[in-house]
Amino acid sequence: MLVSVTEMLKKAKEGKYAVGQFNINNLEWTKAILLTAQECNSPVILGVSEGAGKYMTGFKTVVNMVKGMLEGLNITVPVAIHLDHGTYEGALSAIEAGFSSIMFDGSHYPIEENIAKTKELVALANPKGISVEAEVGSIGGEEDGVVGAGEVADPAECKMIADLGVDILAAGIGNIHGKYPANWQGLNFEALEKISEATHPMPLVLHGGTGIPGDMIKRAISLGVSKINVNTECQLSFAAAVRKYVEAGKDLEGKGFDPRKLLAPGVEAIKETVKEKMELFGSVGKA
Ligand code: 13P
Repeated sequence: MLVSVTEMLKKAKEGKYAVGQFNINNLEWTKAILLTAQECNSPVILGVSEGAGKYMTGFKTVVNMVKGMLEGLNITVPVAIHLDHGTYEGALSAIEAGFSSIMFDGSHYPIEENIAKTKELVALANPKGISVEAEVGSIGGEEDGVVGAGEVADPAECKMIADLGVDILAAGIGNIHGKYPANWQGLNFEALEKISEATHPMPLVLHGGTGIPGDMIKRAISLGVSKINVNTECQLSFAAAVRKYVEAGKDLEGKGFDPRKLLAPGVEAIKETVKEKMELFGSVGKA
């Protein structure tokens, strides 16, 4: 069932669990995530970056592929197709293509410009029932060629953006995309607490879910995080499983070169990672 994130995250915030956003790259990714969500009876958010959208030949292809799979795989749990770190123009085309949710990442603009653009997008998305995620304070690390230094969000700015009618808010609290460096200071819970108080009852989003220890994830959820984004971890487990298959020479045995066989261990690995995260986030059985 294709839905926006509004209802599923409102329920998550009230029930003190988080829904995972898992980024998709291709058919195998999408299928693995949808099947796991159904198996776990969990709501799920499919994250699509602009780069991944282009890779999959455009947002329309993504929407049609997901809709086809919902039908073809009999997926009955709530599923959102969500633009990840959208530009203003990207957000417009995602709305046009039929995404059920968008993120506008205006965190690199001065706050006034972030406010103005976020407001415009909310006015376009809301009447169509499309949810909007805004961002304050950048998420560190590199994603799709965009490198952020990682800046902790100011609670007063978070409140300003939250009041614009957005559905969810991503706030930088020392989290970064990709693997965490050995000298990482951990999440800034003091900042999270202040942001959570200032923006209550807005569900908060934690980006950079890869590699955050389980106890920090649980604490973040207890402080108001209702959506957690995971991307790199699925890529790492997929790559490791396919590497193992090739290194064992299985592609050279019989029809082992068939992509449906060659990629199967990668698909299984994504499923395992997604299931682990759904269990950790507490979304299992909450569809
Ligand atoms: P990771 O790649 O670190 O899991 O981050 C994903 C993310 O935040 C997507 O927006």
